[in-house]
Amino acid sequence: MTTQKTAKFRSDYRTPAFTIDTVDLDFHLHDSTTRVVAVMRVRRLSAGPLELDGEQLQLRRIAIDGSELATADYELTATQLRMADVPDNFELTIETEINPSANSALEGLYKSGGAFCTQCEAEGFRRITYYLDRPDVLAIFTTTVRADAETYPYLLSNGNLQRKGTLDNGEHFATWHDPHPKPAYLFALVAGDFDRLHDHYTTMEGREVLLELFVDKGNLARAGYAMQSLKKAMKWDEERFGLAYDLDRYMIVAVDFFNMGAMENKGLNIFNSKYVLADTATATDWDFIHVESVIGHEYFHNWTGNRITCRDWFQLSLKEGLTVFRDQEFSSDLGSRAVHRIDAIRVMRSHQFNEDASPMAHPIRPDKVVEMNNFYTVTVYNKGAEVIRMLHTFLGEQGFQAGMRCYRERHDGQAVTCEDFVAAMETANDTDLAQFRRWYSQAGTPTLTITEDYDAAQKSLTIKVQQHTPSTPGQIDKQPVVIPLLFSLYNAAGQRLSVTHEHVQRHESGSELWVVNQATATLTLTDVNERPVIAWLENFSAPVKIERNVDLSVYTTLLAHAEQEVTRWEAAQQMYLHVLLAGVRQQGQIDLPQALIEALRHALHAALDNALKALIFTPPSAEELVEYFQEDAPLEAIGKAVQQLRDALAEHLEDDFAKVYHSLTADEKDLSAQAMAVRAMQNRCLYYLAVATPQDYAPKVLQQATQGQSMTLQQAALEFAVHLDLPNHQQALGQFEQQWQETPLVMDKWFAAQASAPQPETVERVAMLLEHDKFSLRNPNRVYALVATFCRNSLCFHRADGQGYQLVLRIIKQLNTLNPQVAARLITPFLQWRRYDEKRQELLKNCLLELQQMDNLASDLAEKVNNALA
Ligand code: TRP
Ligand code: ZN
Repeated sequence: MTTQKTAKFRSDYRTPAFTIDTVDLDFHLHDSTTRVVAVMRVRRLSAGPLELDGEQLQLRRIAIDGSELATADYELTATQLRMADVPDNFELTIETEINPSANSALEGLYKSGGAFCTQCEAEGFRRITYYLDRPDVLAIFTTTVRADAETYPYLLSNGNLQRKGTLDNGEHFATWHDPHPKPAYLFALVAGDFDRLHDHYTTMEGREVLLELFVDKGNLARAGYAMQSLKKAMKWDEERFGLAYDLDRYMIVAVDFFNMGAMENKGLNIFNSKYVLADTATATDWDFIHVESVIGHEYFHNWTGNRITCRDWFQLSLKEGLTVFRDQEFSSDLGSRAVHRIDAIRVMRSHQFNEDASPMAHPIRPDKVVEMNNFYTVTVYNKGAEVIRMLHTFLGEQGFQAGMRCYRERHDGQAVTCEDFVAAMETANDTDLAQFRRWYSQAGTPTLTITEDYDAAQKSLTIKVQQHTPSTPGQIDKQPVVIPLLFSLYNAAGQRLSVTHEHVQRHESGSELWVVNQATATLTLTDVNERPVIAWLENFSAPVKIERNVDLSVYTTLLAHAEQEVTRWEAAQQMYLHVLLAGVRQQGQIDLPQALIEALRHALHAALDNALKALIFTPPSAEELVEYFQEDAPLEAIGKAVQQLRDALAEHLEDDFAKVYHSLTADEKDLSAQAMAVRAMQNRCLYYLAVATPQDYAPKVLQQATQGQSMTLQQAALEFAVHLDLPNHQQALGQFEQQWQETPLVMDKWFAAQASAPQPETVERVAMLLEHDKFSLRNPNRVYALVATFCRNSLCFHRADGQGYQLVLRIIKQLNTLNPQVAARLITPFLQWRRYDEKRQELLKNCLLELQQMDNLASDLAEKVNNALA
């Protein structure tokens, strides 16, 4: 049965006719028939019927102030319970029955392995009971959980434990009370048998907080890093933002079945085990970094999301953009700022720009939504964080923190809008952010075209910037946005030149700041004694694309001399891009000028952080290049150019890589930023060495893929063996599988290493791996590792015969009923079918049409398919 949802519009927001002040929930847990009794204090705010949301529920009983309702007293549909005539202030009792073990969508109450758990954001609570399931209804929750004592020794919910005890029939119960009013999406319940790690934290306000981490039995030794990360996050939020924790208990539960990364439920975070479990033998350095940042992210939501929440789901970026900004700053303050910034820039360029150019393009604050789950996007999260970062650039750290204090003082305990956030920043800084608001309302990536005219006789430099934002679906005409353009001037010898101009200020980051807010802007600098070399958009100061036509010597100068590490990395990227795009125009034949080789050789031996060096020697991927072609994307030429650049770097710099490689050592168990940097560079060098002389390095790669105590080294080597088709790579795969078959998170790496291989036969390999006994469509981590990785492998996914498309289409159809949220994440590469040649367009479009014609297509998929075909 299809319940085709209709679109909702941001402009249609109305305050609810009723609110709920308190809710007492009573769960009697059972695999297939869980009974839920909800007792709510309901209060009228304005005239109108009471309409409660509810999906996939069995209604057993309704009572108002203790008297049972007859079926004539209410209307029941597949999504709503409607009561036309109710008092202004009353107690509503609703009893429902649900089936957690049949819940494969992992939304609402479900079973993950042997444990019960919940996921209520965005609209999952309505699968637990009939409720006003919207974020502007804030209630105080008291939750009692009853279950078998032996199977489910831990019974958890939000807030503080009030009571617990034993019952008949081997059951026990626990009652939890959360004193902070909250929307239903922050509700959580967990029941299961776990290993428990506990610790303590004393807040700056003197509150003693019990910290508890629950993991599957046997995994305690892999929980320590998450606990340390939590304590660091609590301390950091006090020091940098002046925000302290507000309950006596903070619990984190790790589960294996989870659609996303983690969820910030008040006092009871639920995490994908991937972002909790980590030790050096099974997790890569990259995994450790993500554990730290996701633990931080969910913790930071306690203020930006929970204490101050969203009025409606169109405001999602209010909490997500801001919280991503906060977790990025947390990681940057604790580790290498440049490395984390580069990571964020790469996400923007390879995923967000792509979304901005797709049929699903939307502003960070969307105007129209069919399925809310489709809007947990790189635009809302990552571009949202870039918008917050621009505010930070404009206002400076002090001004930004003053704005945060104003935001908190005004709105603590409320459900508010992005507009309220911007207004608080305005008041605290006594400034006007009228034009800045366009970043919230306009979709699409602006392009800045920059020209520099140097007049040697006048010693003047005229800089012209034009901005243009392409049309996006439903938004044809775009207005100019306000862009903080950070830049630096150097001379040809690489010395920094100072800039004096009334419209340019030295920014606290060390760059010059020029604010561009018109379609065309001009800056004329005088007393410029020689033609300067300019680094534009330093630190990626705005989420825009830059177009400029300059001599390659600009980039070699900046790579060697720029003061900021991100600018050096960017110079290398621009060099590669120049070479790659020229190569694509020559059917993939690249020409690597000697000057670039020398500049890179110099960087390889320079006194730079090894992590930065590893990034400098990571050229743009095929996926990033596709972004430069809005139509007729020449996939074959792109693939060839990427490979040729890799081979040329390996060939020309082989001796240099060997020299660096043999100079590097790090203890495999050392998790310091420095040791991680060494491993990143060791892996980069080994990669190029294996490309240059596979016969010499294959034994080393195979050994590293199957031995040692560091998953960072092991995983990288496994990928090199498979991706470079080294002899004996089958043996490496076999041994790796043998070693890790009982460790699901490591098996995910084994699946992903194969799904990301560039050889065309990857399509058949993935098809085969779908039948592997460790693969399951019911577990999102497995699906992401194998299928989503394959979807991101553009060259193989788009194999000319369309077999890549057919494979993913088949999986999407199966997931349409099993887990629509996950299905909808796999459809991304189909949406931009208009980008490719005629034959591929036809094949991709046919897949979309086939989905559109299904009679039970989930709304998650329907929204994307319909937009793509519109
Ligand atoms: N609020 C969560 C976060 O950003 C996101 C999230 C977790 C989510 N699970 C989800 C969103 C399921 C939609 C559906 O940390
Ligand atoms: Zn979040």
